[in-house]
Amino acid sequence: MCGIYGIINDKNNQAAQTVLEGLKKLEYRGYDSWGIAVIPENSIEINVDKHIGKIGEAKTNLPSGLIALGHTRWATHGGVTDSNAHPHLDCNKKIAVIHNGIVENYQEIKEELIKKCHQFVSETDTEVIAHQIEEKSKSKKINEAIFETFKLLRGSNAIAVLDFDSKTIIACRNGSPLVVGLGSSQFFLASDVPAFLKETNKVYFLNDGEAVVLSNSGVKLFDLKAEKEKALVSQVLDWKLEDAEKSGYPHFLLKEIYEQLKTIPKTTSINENEIRKLANKINSGYKVVLTGCGTASYCALATKYFFAQQGIDVQAIPSYEFMPFSKFIDKKTLVFAISQSGETADTLIAVKEAKKRGAEVVAVINARGSTLERLADTVLSVGAGPEIAVVSTKAFTSQLSTLYLLTTAVANQYGEGKIKINKLGEVLRDWLNSVLINRLIDTAKNLMDEEHMYLIGKHLNYPATLEFALKIKETSYIHAEPFAAGELKHGVITLIQKGTPCFVLASNDEIKDEVLSSAAEIKARGGLIIGVAPFESSEFDVLIKTPDLDDLTIFANIIVGQLLGYYLGVGRGADPDKPRNLAKSVTVK
Ligand code: F6R
Repeated sequence: MCGIYGIINDKNNQAAQTVLEGLKKLEYRGYDSWGIAVIPENSIEINVDKHIGKIGEAKTNLPSGLIALGHTRWATHGGVTDSNAHPHLDCNKKIAVIHNGIVENYQEIKEELIKKCHQFVSETDTEVIAHQIEEKSKSKKINEAIFETFKLLRGSNAIAVLDFDSKTIIACRNGSPLVVGLGSSQFFLASDVPAFLKETNKVYFLNDGEAVVLSNSGVKLFDLKAEKEKALVSQVLDWKLEDAEKSGYPHFLLKEIYEQLKTIPKTTSINENEIRKLANKINSGYKVVLTGCGTASYCALATKYFFAQQGIDVQAIPSYEFMPFSKFIDKKTLVFAISQSGETADTLIAVKEAKKRGAEVVAVINARGSTLERLADTVLSVGAGPEIAVVSTKAFTSQLSTLYLLTTAVANQYGEGKIKINKLGEVLRDWLNSVLINRLIDTAKNLMDEEHMYLIGKHLNYPATLEFALKIKETSYIHAEPFAAGELKHGVITLIQKGTPCFVLASNDEIKDEVLSSAAEIKARGGLIIGVAPFESSEFDVLIKTPDLDDLTIFANIIVGQLLGYYLGVGRGADPDKPRNLAKSVTVK
């Protein structure tokens, strides 16, 4: 959470404006407020511009300069006010600090600094960092002052400091992501690559316990513990500029939904060796535990059903409920940690616990260079490319497709699995046409003013309803509650009134009649039944027809939820790329 972006040697001498544009690409990381600090050409101090609210189409009047550092905030400590927005300055306006994380011991540090007459203007934990560096820099070089200050901070943090005197940007990492971009003469620091992808794809992802110093002559890497410089070995990413642009779509969310036509089949051409090795381990008796948060936890649950189809019993545990069950994990357990960002705090906590118990960790991830990637013994990188919309879509389907392939490999049917996933891609391409879109837009128009809707599904379509409902809630803010179809008559049917919209997700399988019976029970109580299924039924008042793809039908059923959420959100005036109160990667507990 929180986006960080800094530049040294801006080629147009407009560093603040460049940072503003880059921050717009990181806004998915937090949009409570934004701010930029610049070292102007002819000034005796750092200039800062900061505002509450989304960055949107904002402009800044900050003066020209070669070096600037900016931030988009997802508030933790201190309300959403201009003064709490980052960057924060020291008393002399020579040091500007931005920060991603929570300084758990900021109160005690602040009390000491107040005794030393430092003046605070915000309620944030971040401001103490600027004053602590100022205090230490009275007797030490700026690098040492920053490194020592950083080591004082408790919690998971990344900081970036703009120092007026040395004209450098210095950043330290412990738990929150930071990446350096190496252009030919420009150098960048960001919490995620899209900020600078326009300029360079040559990057270095910082590890925990590392720091970087960006100056006009280049980037130096340091080991924080030893306070010694070490070699920086960069990598070149295969991401393209279009990955971080909307490419003609009105929103990233819609672009990413459509990208699934390519990203799902792409999973058949990657990870084969790793998948086969993991399948062998599972067949040799390793237990499997799947974990993740939110959408990723629904991917875990859907995978549990896919494993069950192959006769293998696995556990799917949301990472935030992992601890009570961690005692069952041992050296012969494979823990699959599913995460788009690889930075979700709850998932990382579960993984660290699993590692402590000797488990082998498999990261099923989309973003590159994450903490999870580094912690894992095996990485299944699902290759969906940068997911910019806060609401997860293409990363989810690529993770599910990758794990589906694993379940086929376990059953010695990996070749068949690949054929099915490639076929899925082809069928989705034909199905996702203007007829479907018009139907979805009409359905969205009819549902626009609803405040409650319910969803039912059974077996594989149960995790699909969980994901479908989450897409509706996140994107349109409508209360959409998913149930296992069988749950209905055990209490929740009381919620159904005349006209209550109820989605029924189904596949053309042996349990479809049971699902239709549940639909009939809702219909008998006046509910409006919207079928999302590859078949017609007299129980459906409306049908959004999905292709008949056997057990893979759930991919199409879920895509209906993604698109409906999108059109409902747009219709209700929400921002589909940046839903209220959310941030893309949840790096706090
Ligand atoms: C839903 C969504 C969240 C994330 C969850 C885990 O659209 O985006 O529920 O899935 O916060 O995030 P990752 O996958 O980055 O670990």
